[in-house]
Amino acid sequence: MESNVSANKWWHNAVVYQIYPRSFMDANNDGIGDLTGIISKLDYLQQLGINIIWLSPVYKSPMDDNGYDISDYQDIAPEFGTLEEMEQLIREAKKRDIHIVMDLVVNHTSDEHPWFIEARKSKNNPYRDYYIWREPQADGSVPNDFHSYFGGSGWEFDPQTGEYYFHQFSKKQPDLNWENPKVQEEIHQMMNWWLDKGIGGFRMDVIDLIGKQVDDKVMANGPKLHDLIKAMNQATFGPRNLLTVGETWSATPEIAKLYSATDRNELSMIFQFEHITMNWHPQEGKWQPLPFDLVKFKQIISKWQTALAHEGWNSLFWNNHDLPRAVSKYGDAGIFRVQSAKMLATTLHFLKGTPYVYQGEEIGMTNVRFDSIDDYKDIESLNLYHERIAAGVPHDQMMEGIYENGRDNARTPMQWDTSEYGGFSNHQPWLKVNPNYTEINANAALQEPDSVFYHYQHLIRLRKELPIMVYGDFECLLPEDPNTFIYTRTFQNQKIIVLSNFAAEKSKVLLPASIQNTYGQCISYNYSPRAELKHELTLEPFESIAILVHDKS
Ligand code: GLC
Ligand code: CA
Repeated sequence: MESNVSANKWWHNAVVYQIYPRSFMDANNDGIGDLTGIISKLDYLQQLGINIIWLSPVYKSPMDDNGYDISDYQDIAPEFGTLEEMEQLIREAKKRDIHIVMDLVVNHTSDEHPWFIEARKSKNNPYRDYYIWREPQADGSVPNDFHSYFGGSGWEFDPQTGEYYFHQFSKKQPDLNWENPKVQEEIHQMMNWWLDKGIGGFRMDVIDLIGKQVDDKVMANGPKLHDLIKAMNQATFGPRNLLTVGETWSATPEIAKLYSATDRNELSMIFQFEHITMNWHPQEGKWQPLPFDLVKFKQIISKWQTALAHEGWNSLFWNNHDLPRAVSKYGDAGIFRVQSAKMLATTLHFLKGTPYVYQGEEIGMTNVRFDSIDDYKDIESLNLYHERIAAGVPHDQMMEGIYENGRDNARTPMQWDTSEYGGFSNHQPWLKVNPNYTEINANAALQEPDSVFYHYQHLIRLRKELPIMVYGDFECLLPEDPNTFIYTRTFQNQKIIVLSNFAAEKSKVLLPASIQNTYGQCISYNYSPRAELKHELTLEPFESIAILVHDKS
């Protein structure tokens, strides 16, 4: 235990808040969120208690994928602000003890990045090899059948030089060639330039794809991936003690240890997605979601908690800018919205790892249902909608998929108050506000002592006060129970018992012997406190409690 504690990192007990800048706060009333808007809400975030902001991309970009297509890594998109405003944000955040973690999108650039503009000019342009080019097959067709995640082929023909370039995302997001040492050097320099500005680290977009071997059709977890990350670590953030988190859809716990074990000198932690993709149809993917299976979910979470208990580190999240709203997906967006939002928060924040809160989650924002496909803006939803409609999928079926899992669910403007456009802007926003802003908004939450907001505030504070919440060992109890998630954390002579009901009905549980007849302090609840456990218990719909048991027997 002592050695574990001596390896403490400042981000172990921190909570990260993700901002999607386009949708957070619009200060100049053009309908698009901006940096000045974020600065104006730092006090709100300080009140919530978070220590780190993960800022989705704010770099210069044609916004084909809302900033995940960067045309200048060392400038800010004019609709978001200026470099001076970015520096001001870093300073103002620091005053409030908040670090800014930037989104590092280096698997690809925009096709409007000067490197790509040069690269496509001729086959012997010095920048040609910054990207991945292949000749057409003899009949002129694409080099291979690799598909883009955003629909269509992953190869785009470029008439100027008569070759195809490779793109795993949209054709305006050409993949960088990480085999080229010059690409590596340029990216490292750029990263250091940002680090010198005092940022707190990087969230690394689809970083598991940079070791790709296109000719072997290896995309994720390529053979050189970890060498590339080690080299990046050494050349940039390694000596600086920052937070780095890799987005790695392909990670297993064993792979996660490669990234995040301290002696590996790679990253602080990764995002794994097994608990997300378990809800997707094996063939149709996210557009044909499966019903949520709590038993399977508990298996996955337990596997990750156990595997990274003493080596590596977990990140904990329900949602982000690519995923549906947690309360709609795993809780109840109707009459139990507040209770279920709190239950989900409690369940997640008592796990071992660093929790991430996605903007609006702290007030229990929900998914949205727009009637017309024209009200959607997300390139993934739009591309796939058109592709599948053309393939004969009925409109209603596709809309159901978008309602359930489309990325715009998370991207509707942040709901601040009851004024028109939810206080996000005075101007019609780039994406419509969820009509429920009149009821669900930050202002209402701040005025209601029992709100979801104060529940998050409480959990975030507890994490700072209780080392057991950060370092305790996890154990899942009653893994086969289909309605409840019950687990313990143990640390030195302390134990916490967390009991959550994921059902919209009461759930009765016979408690396992190890937690029967226990008594302690109820440190989190969403109905009324319960300090004593006998041999059975009936939990209210979406009830969740955490009991700190002293005197472990
Ligand atoms: C990541 C981002 C997503 C983006 C994609 C391509 O998955 O989270 O928003 O579209 O990478 O950059
Ligand atoms: Ca604006």
